[in-house]
Amino acid sequence: MQNTPLPQRTFASIQVDLPAPPHVPKDRLVDLTWATGSKPNDLRDPYEPCGWLTDLGVPRILFNPPMPNSGGLAGGSKGAWVVTHYEDIERVYTDNDHFSNKGAAEFQALIGETFRSIPLAVDPPDHAKYRHFLFPHFAAASINRMEPQMRTLAVEMIESFAGKGEVDVAWDFGRVYPVRVFMSLMGFPPAMFQQFLDWEWNILHASDRTKTAASLRAVLNFLRGFIAEKQTAPDDHLVSKIVHGRIEGRALTDEEKIGIVWFLWLGGLDTVAATISQMFRRMAVEPEIQRQLRHHPELINSAVEEFLRTQPILSSSRSAIRDFEWHGVTIKAGDAVQCLNSAGNFDPQKFSDPRAFDPARKGNRHFTFIAGIHLCLGATLARRELRIILEEWLTRIPAFAVKAGADTTVFPGLLSIRNLPLKW
Ligand code: HEM
Repeated sequence: MQNTPLPQRTFASIQVDLPAPPHVPKDRLVDLTWATGSKPNDLRDPYEPCGWLTDLGVPRILFNPPMPNSGGLAGGSKGAWVVTHYEDIERVYTDNDHFSNKGAAEFQALIGETFRSIPLAVDPPDHAKYRHFLFPHFAAASINRMEPQMRTLAVEMIESFAGKGEVDVAWDFGRVYPVRVFMSLMGFPPAMFQQFLDWEWNILHASDRTKTAASLRAVLNFLRGFIAEKQTAPDDHLVSKIVHGRIEGRALTDEEKIGIVWFLWLGGLDTVAATISQMFRRMAVEPEIQRQLRHHPELINSAVEEFLRTQPILSSSRSAIRDFEWHGVTIKAGDAVQCLNSAGNFDPQKFSDPRAFDPARKGNRHFTFIAGIHLCLGATLARRELRIILEEWLTRIPAFAVKAGADTTVFPGLLSIRNLPLKW
């Protein structure tokens, strides 16, 4: 564990002189590829390197041009504007007159598929009908019904290693628990567990495009077959409810069915896993947090929110719908605008003492689930999983620490941390 913070970058140190679209002023060109979760570090607070991006000397809007050998930020080959302040990020997520989510997370385009990722890539007014259709299945009342089963699974898993005095919390618990909950919600066969994770890894993290394409074909083939099966033999799980559901009084089209099931599959697999692993890493390296939560279990709810705030595993992008002026620059229709949640969640204008982990923090409106109409649909489920895990773990496992010699390096994004052996 690296105890001293990294040397602070300055605005001048991230400025670059690289080709960019002609409407982008030269003084806004920066390299922010290091700030998007793909560069590992071993800090207690892995998001600390982004902290200074909300300093007064940093322009409110920056531009990350396409970087040699990296494909650039979310704007891919075109580069992207980047905002870092809470107020600006909030505007991008909520101003649907200027920003669109069309084309978001459409990995399927790589193999020539033309269906949309629903509801993520759908703009208003269409978005509302899909959200309305899916919301009841993710609302608190539905999650309450799932809770006993989720709790039983958590207890079974924790008790299976509690007596051993150690576990690889990332590999054997964080990676497994949320996927098992998700698969049971959807009705997917448990035997597909490893295959799902392998496909997802190849789609989101593999640099080999042939592998990505093969996995996309395989998963879409599986999902279409699964949808067809549920069409004729429905069960009580979510895929069947989607397949037999009605939107505005009509049955869903095939494109809508695969668009929804595919995006849920993509969004439900490793987001919670990454969050759980980082949550245990933080508690292991900061035992004071464990102590506080053991003595004050009534803080677990607000602590979950603080783990989420301090672990913003994703940064989202939008594309501009029209030309407009913002913070002294012209944004043109079609430009990508990325929101660095890893800076906005620590903006001192919004959060007092932002780098401190405060399990009792009030009014904790972070961007880990973003904001606005695309606010994570799985947020209630994810929060409940985190709460159950903390409640059941802290009453069964005594004070724990990282096993001597273990690597605590983190990719502060979806990849996070693959192995984290803990000992107690
Ligand atoms: C800690 C865990 C999770 C995190 C950090 C997370 C994060 C996010 C973020 C940042 C977005 C917005 C993306 C964008 O607008 O570009 C999002 C949207 C979404 N998430 Fe999650 N997510 C988590 C868990 C889940 C789970 C478990 C599910 C489903 C089972 C899920 C389903 C969705 C869906 C369907 C959307 C799209 C909502 C819409 O467009 O209206 N998420 N999530």
